[in-house]
Amino acid sequence: GVVEVVVVGSCNTDLITYTARFPNPGETIHGHSFSIGFGGKGANQAVCAARLGASTAMIGKVGNDTFGNDTTKNFQNNNINIDHLGMEDGTSTGTAVITVDESGQNSIVIVNGANSLLSKSDVSAAEPMIARAKILVCQLEVEPEVSIAAMKLARQHNVMTLFNPAPARANLPPDAWTLCDVFCPNEAEAEMFAGMPVKAKEDAEKASLFFLDKGCKIVIITLGDKGAVYVTQENRTPVHVPCRVTKVVDTTGAGDAFAGALAYYMACHPGLAIGQVIRRSCEIARMSVQHSGTQNSYPVRQQIPDELFL
Ligand code: RIB
Ligand code: NA
Repeated sequence: GVVEVVVVGSCNTDLITYTARFPNPGETIHGHSFSIGFGGKGANQAVCAARLGASTAMIGKVGNDTFGNDTTKNFQNNNINIDHLGMEDGTSTGTAVITVDESGQNSIVIVNGANSLLSKSDVSAAEPMIARAKILVCQLEVEPEVSIAAMKLARQHNVMTLFNPAPARANLPPDAWTLCDVFCPNEAEAEMFAGMPVKAKEDAEKASLFFLDKGCKIVIITLGDKGAVYVTQENRTPVHVPCRVTKVVDTTGAGDAFAGALAYYMACHPGLAIGQVIRRSCEIARMSVQHSGTQNSYPVRQQIPDELFL
């Protein structure tokens, strides 16, 4: 059948250490547990959208190694189309070495490996699939020019684009803004791209207007446990959507759960008001922070209240 959500982006293996606190430079400390999970911002968003029920495809690259084989199987287990998932010799599957402290905060070092080899021609090869999709989703964990090329292609076919500019990096091509229908950074990314502090809700409101003026049609800035702020070209008054409070075990991948949920709702519930789309996506992200791990913590359909699907 037709793929509704196409994700162009990264696949990582997450190597996660849980510890009371972060080590200082030069210091060795004891963590209390370790786990290996599937991650990478692109893959996470694809898995979240697929678990919610979107027919989803992943365009990406893994290495010809154990992690790459396992990642491929993981996509299959999550019903994700991998017609355009490449496996490359001579490089390693992307990795993320993650430390999670007692409060559920994380610090991450990623090594791109095969993700860096995803090219514009890999994206062009998927043109027929992209052309028929409802939404195309990109991030910044592959070469930015590849994300830009994918959004250009989607635009040519009137396919909606969702751009999650994570992780933040300097020197984004200027056409990035005009190519995205939905621009969805977190506070840190918004701060970097807007060049203004984004700490409080009021800052996010200001930054959201900055991005709107750059040409994005809808801007959604996520604020962690404070929810999100959004603004649209049709209604230039920023709106704050709060998030219900929750116990926090591990916030790793919560932003990706949010972006994946956004993609699902926009593709599969096109009549839903944007405020509702955001409220529901916050709920999905909230469910993910209650459990350890990245994709491991994303809910499956049966665990999600029916009201989020009405
Ligand atoms: O956003 C969370 C993701 O960032 C992790 O899964 C890790 O792979 C890093 O890419
Ligand atoms: Na989690």
